[in-house]
Amino acid sequence: MTGSTAATSIGIHDLAITTTHYAVELEDLANAYGIEPAKFRFGLGQDQFSFPAPDEDIVTMAAAAAKQIIERNGVTGLRTIMLATESGVDQSKAAAVPVQSLLGLPSEIRVVEMKQACYAGTAALQAALGIVARNPNERVLVIASDVARYQLDSPGEPTQGAGAVAMLVSADPALLAIEPAAGVFTADIDDFWRPNDSTTAVVDGHLSMSAYLDAMTGAWNDLQAQGGPAIEDVDRILYHQPFTKMAKKAQAHLAKVTNSALDLALPGEEKTENARDTGLANGTLYNRRLGNSYTASLFAGLAALLHHDSELAGKRVALLSYGSGSVSEALTGIVQPGYFDAEASARFSAVLDARETITIEAYRALHATERSSATDYETERVTNAPFRFAGVTGQARQYEAN
Ligand code: HMG
Repeated sequence: MTGSTAATSIGIHDLAITTTHYAVELEDLANAYGIEPAKFRFGLGQDQFSFPAPDEDIVTMAAAAAKQIIERNGVTGLRTIMLATESGVDQSKAAAVPVQSLLGLPSEIRVVEMKQACYAGTAALQAALGIVARNPNERVLVIASDVARYQLDSPGEPTQGAGAVAMLVSADPALLAIEPAAGVFTADIDDFWRPNDSTTAVVDGHLSMSAYLDAMTGAWNDLQAQGGPAIEDVDRILYHQPFTKMAKKAQAHLAKVTNSALDLALPGEEKTENARDTGLANGTLYNRRLGNSYTASLFAGLAALLHHDSELAGKRVALLSYGSGSVSEALTGIVQPGYFDAEASARFSAVLDARETITIEAYRALHATERSSATDYETERVTNAPFRFAGVTGQARQYEAN
């Protein structure tokens, strides 16, 4: 066969993370609800969650994250945007279309939105790898952007959150070269879903945790069957993090399934004796402040790991993705030399610190506000992010630069 040159290495060339204007302190939520704050801090492993202002949504977060990627890398070879979300703002039009428009990207670009609960970011990454494998001169913008919303006063409420991660997928990547073997697993389970007529998720919390662990085991076992690396050959492991204690539960489960000693300490906890540090603590540093960012959560974990560990060049990282419903995938990648940016953790910590802490009363009022697209409206000007959701005109959502 002639004419096809497979790229030797394809993966994540650059990555940017962003979140919302507001943050809710879980200690405030616990105090307001008469719950022991330790339940959220230690029981769930969460300190805060991000919450959108009325003029923010998945599109504004996605565009803000992608803007950083475009500013650093330009648009050469960029012909596809894949936006993964499970909190889509339209049933038909892909959220990647307004992102393309806000960023002033060329018209010669394909855009699409992908959905399968929290897993879809990984599906988008896989599809992007395929496009670049076919033509190594192309680059693909993969964006995972979500707002996690549960009903007020429900057990899921403290695990809400929001965030977006944009990634540039290319040949000869500067951050993480994804290896060819992947393990996949699907099971039809009603553990968590959001009906078309509901703005909040329906969830069977305890079923969702066992579904997560079963699916992760299935994907891990399939990775082994596909010739992927054994646990001893994996240096760091990242998990989908609906709350960071779930990553610890997943790590304990994987340790059992693989009969290996893996450190189970979250930040501030004592290291597990005679156990290998696989980056559990570093990989959870951002998520415990973002809350659940659904499709972005796994990649927020990747950002936290790459920003906090300077010794990763040449090391193998496993990404274990989960989306309720349920689908799981196990991928591995090799961290590239020169990946470490010593300023990155301070930069994103400053973004997290800069969020405005909202009172529980104000947060509950905002959460309870549901605006119909049947009537035109303008949103109040709150966010200082690069882009804002301006309101609805003729049933169509309007966006603008801030
Ligand atoms: P709950 O039932 O209120 O909490 O909600 P609990 O009673 O199970 O307690 C939670 C933990 O806090 C327990 O620890 C308690 O012992 C501990 P564990 O036994 O699990 O290790 N605890 C305390 N610790 C210290 N001091 C205290 C204290 N009190 C209790 N005083 C639940 C928990 C996760 C069910 C709820 O938050 C929920 O429904 N969340 C939403 C669903 C979810 O996040 N599921 C996770 C797996 S599914 C998934 O990840 C997919 C998802 O992201 C969606 C998607 O894919 O699209 C959700």
